[in-house]
Amino acid sequence: MAKVSASILACNQVRIGEEVQAAKQAGADLLHVDVMDGVYVQNLACGPQMVADLKRDCGLPISVHMELLRPEIFWPMFARAGADILTFQLDVCRNPIHLLREIRAAGIRAGLGIGPAYGVESLRYLLHHMDWLILMSVEPGYGGQPFEESIFEKLQRARQIMEESGRRVPICVDGGVTEETGRRLVKAGADVLIAGSFLFQGNKIGRRVRSLKAL
Ligand code: DX5
Ligand code: ZN
Repeated sequence: MAKVSASILACNQVRIGEEVQAAKQAGADLLHVDVMDGVYVQNLACGPQMVADLKRDCGLPISVHMELLRPEIFWPMFARAGADILTFQLDVCRNPIHLLREIRAAGIRAGLGIGPAYGVESLRYLLHHMDWLILMSVEPGYGGQPFEESIFEKLQRARQIMEESGRRVPICVDGGVTEETGRRLVKAGADVLIAGSFLFQGNKIGRRVRSLKAL
């Protein structure tokens, strides 16, 4: 059974408290908070205040997904806001080992995000420094994009590298998760399903969380 991480990007931003509670009551395991800078991606989303308020009011672990340039400058403000897991994108970082170490040294789980256009081979060198892996099955920037089928070969390769290196970290898949893709992802070994539009669009939050939890 996979864990479900509810991506608040797709929430109604005015009713976010209610929607997050509905996801929590239905059994969501984590909240996924995308932070977007308008430069790395052509969209803007979430500052540290949102993370701090969610942390205080919602009672679920908070996973912050930094979809921004210069994560080495921005991560401390999300750490102070109470993030439990901090993920940055591999393609924006020149010294990922250094950044993973810094995040861990602050007592926070350090995550690495890999976009659909990038391979997973560097995991061979990074796994021992990290606690969390987000494989993206859409380009960073928006919810509701088409699901990239190439995720399955990456998922398989990531699992293989983990077996070979003896270091296993949770594999999360982010983007285009529905009941249909979720079922295939769980079968292929995903540990955490990150879902936005599927959960929050259409007034069926509870039912949709339960449908992913049941996979
Ligand atoms: C995309 C974000 C995702 C997004 C997924 O940049 O990282 O977390 O919320 O949205 P859906 O589930 O709608 O594809
Ligand atoms: Zn995300």
